[in-house]
Amino acid sequence: MRAHIDLPLVVDRSSPVPLAVQVGGQLREAMRTGALKDGERLPSTRGLAALLGVSRTVVTDAYQQLYAEGWLDGRHGSGTYVAEGTSGHPEGPAVGAVPAARTVPASRPRPDGLIDLRPGRPWVHDHDRAAWRRAWRSAGDLPLDDAPDPYGRPELRELLAEHLRRARAVPVGAGDVMVTRGTGNGLDLIAATLLGPGARAGVEEPGYRKARTVFAGRGAQIVPCPVDDQGVIVEALPDDLRVLYTTPAHQYPVGGRLPIPRRERLLAWARRTGAMIVEDDYDAEFRYDVAPLPALYGLDPARVVLLGTLSKSLSPDVGVGWLVAAGPLLDRVARRREELTDRTPGPVQAAVATMLARGDLDRHLRRTRLEYARRRAAIVEALGPLVHGDTAGLHVMIEVPAAALPGLVERARERGVLLDATDRHHHGPPRVHGLVLGYGSVSLADVRRGCEVIRELISPVPGA
Ligand SMILES: Cc1ncc(COP(=O)(O)O)c(C=O)c1O
Repeated sequence: MRAHIDLPLVVDRSSPVPLAVQVGGQLREAMRTGALKDGERLPSTRGLAALLGVSRTVVTDAYQQLYAEGWLDGRHGSGTYVAEGTSGHPEGPAVGAVPAARTVPASRPRPDGLIDLRPGRPWVHDHDRAAWRRAWRSAGDLPLDDAPDPYGRPELRELLAEHLRRARAVPVGAGDVMVTRGTGNGLDLIAATLLGPGARAGVEEPGYRKARTVFAGRGAQIVPCPVDDQGVIVEALPDDLRVLYTTPAHQYPVGGRLPIPRRERLLAWARRTGAMIVEDDYDAEFRYDVAPLPALYGLDPARVVLLGTLSKSLSPDVGVGWLVAAGPLLDRVARRREELTDRTPGPVQAAVATMLARGDLDRHLRRTRLEYARRRAAIVEALGPLVHGDTAGLHVMIEVPAAALPGLVERARERGVLLDATDRHHHGPPRVHGLVLGYGSVSLADVRRGCEVIRELISPVPGA
């Protein structure tokens, strides 16, 4: 059955696309094409729900999604309006920007209306466009370098060292820091320097698939190293690893934080066996309860290489990260980098340096942290007893009753929700069964809707 109103809206109850996604999608389209104009008032949620014959929650969810994306403006107590500067712009709203500055297209929700709860993507909708433009203006004023430094630009190395001292309690100077294009690039530089055909490289199991791919790409033999709810199990580590990749701040994907005694045992293992620990400091910026533990690197710089990235705190599109290692190893990596003609573009480094120096990145982090914390809380509220991991990061692992697992990803897709199963994160036969939910790139309303679908598909949820 279809319902019509004088806005160009229809709802189709026979469609697998959730009603709120249908309503939101059509309103978005109406603003995109200019059918709904800047400043125009939308009907009240109650009024539109009555007109369409749907529940008020459907309209509230659709409006919330459009608020989060910047299409709508709410003037407290006086209704919902099309935000200024959005109507007729096919690329979508530019949150916080003046209308003329639409050269950076806003990220859009998926055109197919699906809710993407797969991990690995941050929220890039609300970054401060003015700060971004300012950073690029100052980068554009700099002369081009005729011989890029393999370690990176000195001012950015200094700023990153300061950030690491302050935020990660690691005693580093600019001389210990190399600017990379992100964690993947850092992993490859380490692999190219320390690994070769047949070298044994340990990777957490389950763990970050790309670490396995990068190490294997340099000829290493991957050795899966089991984790539990607290992180890597030190007693299960073999003695013949050349490197061990680990995520002590927030294990990916199970979500534990490696406790201090285990950190000490891990370092003792590395000293005894001569292995180098590759610490992926992924997610350390995003803790929502207690402060993060200091990075492992600080406890023994000779046995640890620290990798970090702006991929989650700003965007993977920027392509900037860092590799921290004690002097001689850093010099070896830099020489190898030059042989590979691998570098981080100087203008990007200059722009990032401006954002760091002006505090723009810290401000952005403070804003996004709040938003991510809300989304994580919504998942815990909906799926509580199944959620694993610390109150941190942009993903959670949820354990799924064995009976509900077969075909779950496919059934969720039919209901408009994209999910990721834990199987994919294993090198060997899966040890942990469930889903890895990413809430980085979906609005709070979509997180709630997605969890509702999961609950329905796996119900009865024990204890929920
Ligand atoms: C465990 C882990 N580390 C690091 C990254 C970021 O990698 P990069 O800096 O190469 O984008 C991701 C991205 O999803 C990740 O899941």
